[in-house]
Amino acid sequence: MSKNFDVAVIGGGPGGYIAAIRAAQLGFNTACVDEWQNDKGGPALGGTCTNVGCIPSKALLQSSENFDHAGHSFADHGIGLKDLTIDVKKMLSRKDAVVKQNNDGILYLFKKNGVTFFHGRGSFAKAAAEGGHAISVGEETLVARHVIVATGSSARALPGTPFDEDLILSNDGALRIGKITGAVPKKLGLIGAGVIGLEMGSVWRRLGAEVTVLEGLPTFLGAVDEQIAKEAFKIFIKQGLKIELGVKIGEIKVGKKAQNAQVSVAYSDSKGQAQTLEVDKLIISIGRVPNTTGLNAEAVGLKLDERGAIVVDDDCRTNIPGIWAVGDVVRGPMLAHKAEEEGVAVAERIAGQHGHVDFNTVPWVIYTSPEIAWVGQTEQQLKADGRAYKAGSFPFMANGRARALGDTTGMVKLLADAATDEILGVHMIGPMVSELIAEAVVAMSFKASAEDIARICHAHPSLSEATKEAALAVDKRTLNF
Ligand code: FAD
Ligand code: NAI
Repeated sequence: MSKNFDVAVIGGGPGGYIAAIRAAQLGFNTACVDEWQNDKGGPALGGTCTNVGCIPSKALLQSSENFDHAGHSFADHGIGLKDLTIDVKKMLSRKDAVVKQNNDGILYLFKKNGVTFFHGRGSFAKAAAEGGHAISVGEETLVARHVIVATGSSARALPGTPFDEDLILSNDGALRIGKITGAVPKKLGLIGAGVIGLEMGSVWRRLGAEVTVLEGLPTFLGAVDEQIAKEAFKIFIKQGLKIELGVKIGEIKVGKKAQNAQVSVAYSDSKGQAQTLEVDKLIISIGRVPNTTGLNAEAVGLKLDERGAIVVDDDCRTNIPGIWAVGDVVRGPMLAHKAEEEGVAVAERIAGQHGHVDFNTVPWVIYTSPEIAWVGQTEQQLKADGRAYKAGSFPFMANGRARALGDTTGMVKLLADAATDEILGVHMIGPMVSELIAEAVVAMSFKASAEDIARICHAHPSLSEATKEAALAVDKRTLNF
């Protein structure tokens, strides 16, 4: 016997669970299927983001930042601490508790909104059922008029070096280092100086590991505004992160095969010289691949691109009427908030509304210390497009709140159209810029000009005054610098 729904969502990460809630809010009889299991085999809703992504990484970033402050900056405030220690197992169990709160929160939201949850793998059944698409979940068959695929992504492995999550770690193992031993690795290697490489590298460096990051590209953080990326590189190196750019990774030996440490990585450096990195653990963070295996996409003829991502149009429609796809499994940035926006928009489109996602105003945040955040175009993109622009920036060094916080690194930089003054991009590096970027997103969403921000009253003393001052700087009239 099959169970009938208006909307069935496959995947309970931020794309899927949010789509399911919005669909239920709009009055659809909605099901959500998710296969993630907690360590007891029970459901763990929230996908990569909640279980092995955004949430646990931010929990560890916070713990390690607290440790770093206690060891370094507390003394400046007159706070003395003796015999500072880190209990890695406790830090990890706090992180696990934060994850569980989020897992349980989503289950509660499903109950509250009347979403029917199925724990298991969802795959398309061969024959399309009358009145919709059929999805098998274990012994059950769900039939739905609309299916939203939100199956997410997984870490990309290096060919020939599978993840064992003990010595060769994906994001999953990287978030569990020390769970059994309670030890901080002496030497930690990372391949890929992208978002995960920098966030995870920061966590373990702060806790005392000697961290080396090997990056294939000759440029650091190529997607980030060049001026901000250069500033970030200088700061991270000063903090003690070793970052080698332009390397070519060779053979990776593990365990007994490696000679002086648990893992050895042969590589050629940017000058073509042969080098070896020996580490206790190696995190591989070289991007992610869409999850489509197990979906039985071929049964319904769902079109995939050469990366294995589901092909969708701007509105997240696949090539099969009634099947939609959102989040990491489709094109675009692999970000939780982008997945959520797409999920909401699709549910609204199914209801005949005009759901909309503005890809030009999707913010990015890298939660290192200092944080890096941006929205819109970078200076190098504007130059490449031949667009005439004005730039204004303001350093946190000249911001009263940053001085009081004791964290004056970085700046806010604002780019505006030379003729119309419309804000085209905002780039930040510094304290709490993950929060400050929201003002820039709002401004750009409302097509604000730099002058608009410059004329708005910002609380004093606050970090947000740096944004106002950067807007004033576009017109060469900063007041405090
Ligand atoms: P996912 O979250 O991957 O969820 C997909 C779900 O579908 C999973 O539960 C999976 O088990 C399930 N599934 C897959 N196939 C099936 C099937 N056939 N049947 C049933 N269930 C299935 N993004 C940010 O915006 N901010 C951050 O700070 C951030 N930090 C991150 C840190 C790390 C370490 C990582 C790895 C990622 C981070 N991301 C961050 C990215 C973010 O996690 C993803 O963009 C987001 O989770 C994508 O959401 P999604 O719903 O598309 O997929
Ligand atoms: P990434 O795309 O951010 O970075 C991967 C890096 O690895 C790049 O710099 C790339 O040049 C390098 N690389 C690729 N192949 C290589 C090779 N063979 N040898 C050496 N270097 C190589 O990917 P990452 O860090 O794995 O994260 C995946 C995605 O997860 C991110 O792009 C982002 O979408 C999401 N994420 C978001 C976070 C946030 O929003 N704060 C935090 C963490 C992840």
